[in-house]
Amino acid sequence: MATGRIVLGIESSCDETGAGIVAQGRLLAHAVASSMDEHARFGGVVPEIAARAHLHSFAPVVQNALDQADLKLSDIGAVAVTTGPGLSGALQVGLAGAKTLAYALDVPLYGVHHLAGHVAADTLEHGPLPDPCVVLIVSGGHTSLLLVRDLARDPIVHLGDTLDDAAGECFDKVARVLGLPYPGGPAIDRAARSGDPRAVAFPRPLTGPKDDLYAFSFSGLKTAAARWAEGHAGRELPVADGAASLQEAVADVLTRKALAACRDHGVRTLVVVGGVAANSRVRALTEERCAAEGVRLRVPPMTLCTDNGAMIAAVGDLLVRAGAEPAPWDMSIDPSAPLTYAALRPGAAAARAA
Ligand code: KG4
Ligand code: ZN
Repeated sequence: MATGRIVLGIESSCDETGAGIVAQGRLLAHAVASSMDEHARFGGVVPEIAARAHLHSFAPVVQNALDQADLKLSDIGAVAVTTGPGLSGALQVGLAGAKTLAYALDVPLYGVHHLAGHVAADTLEHGPLPDPCVVLIVSGGHTSLLLVRDLARDPIVHLGDTLDDAAGECFDKVARVLGLPYPGGPAIDRAARSGDPRAVAFPRPLTGPKDDLYAFSFSGLKTAAARWAEGHAGRELPVADGAASLQEAVADVLTRKALAACRDHGVRTLVVVGGVAANSRVRALTEERCAAEGVRLRVPPMTLCTDNGAMIAAVGDLLVRAGAEPAPWDMSIDPSAPLTYAALRPGAAAARAA
């Protein structure tokens, strides 16, 4: 077996400890341990708890991935790790573990941008990305519309980003208002199944003729949902209707803007990635609108939509094959790394601060 080509990917930016193994664009294994249950009673991720959970899960998760692929550590030919953006303590644990493995194995280390990982996840299911493609990233911390060329080589062009909350954050916050459990996205998705998406006329932020075509804003939607819930004080809240209507508003805005970007840039492929890509209405409406416009839609399978190590290994594999320069041993984390390249530049955080 060509050991130089087997890439181990490590993800620890939030509450999932992920290890994935990829070679030549092929997914060989991936294992994830989540500390989500430990955060649920706090209604959100507690950074210290997440970091400690990564420490506990790191070795078993890596071993689990190796076992699945029937490989030994010595078969690994490169290690890729999320170095940002994310929670700093959580990122530190993953980077320390990844450095240890890479150093001990004497293989190259690559620092990867978490969101580039979300983009690359799709290649594990649907093959190389066409150049160019429009990518809609919708996660708990980010909402961006991107023009992507060669992920391993070219800079990533931001067509638009959210001005305030991310789409997933909106789901999570509104879920609290509706009395649904954390994480809110899946809970809203479930509750919405028995609701009427036309029950509440929630706004469609930044879709007016004078608005930025590709920018997003979700904080107003969150406020509208809170006002709507308050309006039911003393009466039973029709949670399913609220959830279905909110989901409809989010899906409508996301897909309208994503398809406008494809149209305006003459792009025939839309890739939707990140935790919110797991949302059933976002998936269905995007499918419908892409079909109507003859745009090919690519969405990774559910297990690769939420945070995992395979997506980081996928970027590592692309970098290895593109002949990218490995990261130096003193590579550090960059908790608020902007998405410009898939590989994070060492010292970029310090340079921004200077
Ligand atoms: O990409 P991800 O796993 O982590 C981040 O990098 O943020 O995304 C997590 C986000 C959370 O906000 C979660 O509520 C949302 O994705 N999410 C969903 C669904 N599944 C996860 N939102 C709506 N519907 C879902 N089915
Ligand atoms: Zn993520």
